[in-house]
Amino acid sequence: MNIIKQSVLQSAENSKYFKYIIFEDVVTSTQTIAKEKLFEIENSFVVSSLHQTQGVGRFKREFESPDNCGFYSTFVVRPNVNRDKLMQFNLFIALAITKTIERFINRPIGIKWPNDIYVEGKKLCGFLTEMIPDGQFDTIVCGIGVNIFNSPSEVGKKAALETFADEEIDVGAFVKTLFQNIEKYYDLFLKNDFSMIRDTYVSYSTVLGKEIIITTPSEQYEATAIDIDDFGILKVIDRDGQIKSVLSADIEE
Ligand code: BTN
Repeated sequence: MNIIKQSVLQSAENSKYFKYIIFEDVVTSTQTIAKEKLFEIENSFVVSSLHQTQGVGRFKREFESPDNCGFYSTFVVRPNVNRDKLMQFNLFIALAITKTIERFINRPIGIKWPNDIYVEGKKLCGFLTEMIPDGQFDTIVCGIGVNIFNSPSEVGKKAALETFADEEIDVGAFVKTLFQNIEKYYDLFLKNDFSMIRDTYVSYSTVLGKEIIITTPSEQYEATAIDIDDFGILKVIDRDGQIKSVLSADIEE
C-alpha cells in the first residue's frame, strides 16, 4: 500500500478523535467532502487523500496538491465553544504542526500569522479553519496541507519537507507525530486560552516587529505588527499611528 495512505490509516486507527476516517486516493478537495459529510456523521472524523484536484486555500485560492507528494487532510471536531474561539483554535493547531515539522528538520521554522508555516522563506504547510453552524453547536472543519515530497511542478515560494531534511523522511513517523500533536494541542485548546501557549507561539512568529501589508476584503494598508494578544488577534500600528486589531487577513511581509 502507498506509504502516505498506510501511515494515515494507521494513525487514524490509533487516534483518540479520528478513528472515523474517509480515505480516497483522489478527491476534489478533502475540505469539500468533509463539509458534505458533516451532517451525516455525529462525532469527530477525518477526510484524507493522496491527491486533490481542486484543493482550496484561504481566500478561495487554489492549494496545489500533487499526487503522492503531501499530507492532505481535513479534521472535523465538535468542541462546543463560541465562534470567537475559532482564532485560538488556529493558533493551537499552528503550533501542533510546527512542533511536528521541527522533529524532522533541523532548521528554524516560522509561523506567518495566523496559519502558514515557513522554512527559510518557503511555505511548507498551509491550513484553513472554518466554523460551520451545525444544529446546536458549531463544528470546526480544519484542512491541513503539508508538502512532504517535492513535485516537479512546484516552483517559487513553496518547498517540501524533504528539501530541508538531513535524511529520508520517515513518512510513518511524520504522520503519526502529526496526528498525536493535533490531538494534544486540541486537548490543550479545549482546556486553556491562547495565553497558555502565547509565548511559544510568539517565539515562532515571522511577522512580529515587521513591516507588513495587510489585505482584508475591504481594505489594504501597511503597518507594523506589534503583538498577538491573549485571544490570538494580531495588533498592528498603521502609518497614521493607529493601533488596529486584525482578525482575518492576508499578510505580506
Ligand atoms: C492555505 O495555504 O491558504 C491553506 C491551505 C489548506 C490546504 C488544505 S489540504 C487539505 C484541505 N483540503 C483543501 O482543499 N484544503 C485544505
